[in-house]
Amino acid sequence: MGIIRFNGGTVSDSELLFLVDIAKDKECLEIGTYMGASAINMLQTCKSLIVVDNWTGSKTQPEQLKEFELAKLSGRSIFRHFLSNLEKREAADKVKAILQMDSGEAECLLCDYKCDLVFIDADHSFEGVKRDIELWKPHVRSGGIICGHDYINGESRGWDCTQIVRAVHELLGKPNKVIDTIWVHYA
Ligand SMILES: C[S@@+](CC[C@H](N)C(=O)[O-])C[C@H]1O[C@@H](n2cnc3c(N)ncnc32)[C@H](O)[C@@H]1O
Repeated sequence: MGIIRFNGGTVSDSELLFLVDIAKDKECLEIGTYMGASAINMLQTCKSLIVVDNWTGSKTQPEQLKEFELAKLSGRSIFRHFLSNLEKREAADKVKAILQMDSGEAECLLCDYKCDLVFIDADHSFEGVKRDIELWKPHVRSGGIICGHDYINGESRGWDCTQIVRAVHELLGKPNKVIDTIWVHYA
C-alpha cells in the first residue's frame, strides 16, 4: 500500500508509510489531525479511526495560531480543508468520530474507550506532550502502541522539539523504536 501525499503538514513520506503499515487492522486514535495527512494515510489500512483536534492550533505555537486564524478569515478554515480531504476517500466511513475539541475534553468523552494505537501530534510543548501521553496511554490496550511525531532535537521545525524528546523520556523512557521523527512505545 502506498502513501497519499498532501500539501499541508510536516509528516514525511517515510513516516506516512510507517503509519500506513502500523495502523493495519487496528482501532486507532489520533490527537492532532490538521488537514489530515497522517489520519487519511492511516485510514487506508486501519480498522477504525477517531480523530481529535481543536482545529484552532496549539496555544504554545503562536505561528500556528496565526495560520489557523488567517485560514478562517480567508473563508476556508483548516477544519474545512480536513473535511474536504476526507470526503474524497472511500475509507472515510472508518472514521468513528471527529472530535473538534481540546485533547483533555475529548479524553473525558472517551473515558471508557480502548484502542490499539494512539498517534500524538498536537500541542508540541513539554507540558502538552506530557499531558497527552498521560491522558491517552491508559486508553491503549496491552500489546498496543502509543507513538508521536517530532521526536527530534533542535529547532528544525520552527519550534523547540527538544521539549518533545524530554517529555517522552520523562514519561516512557527511550522509545522502543524511532522512524524518522516518530517515536514508538509498545504498551
Ligand atoms: C502539527 S499539527 C498535526 C499534523 C497532522 N498530524 C498531519 O498529519 O498533518 C498539530 C494539530 O494539533 C492541534 N492541537 C494543538 N493543540 C491541541 C490541543 N490541546 N487539543 C487538540 N488539538 C490540538 C492543532 O490544531 C493542529 O491541527
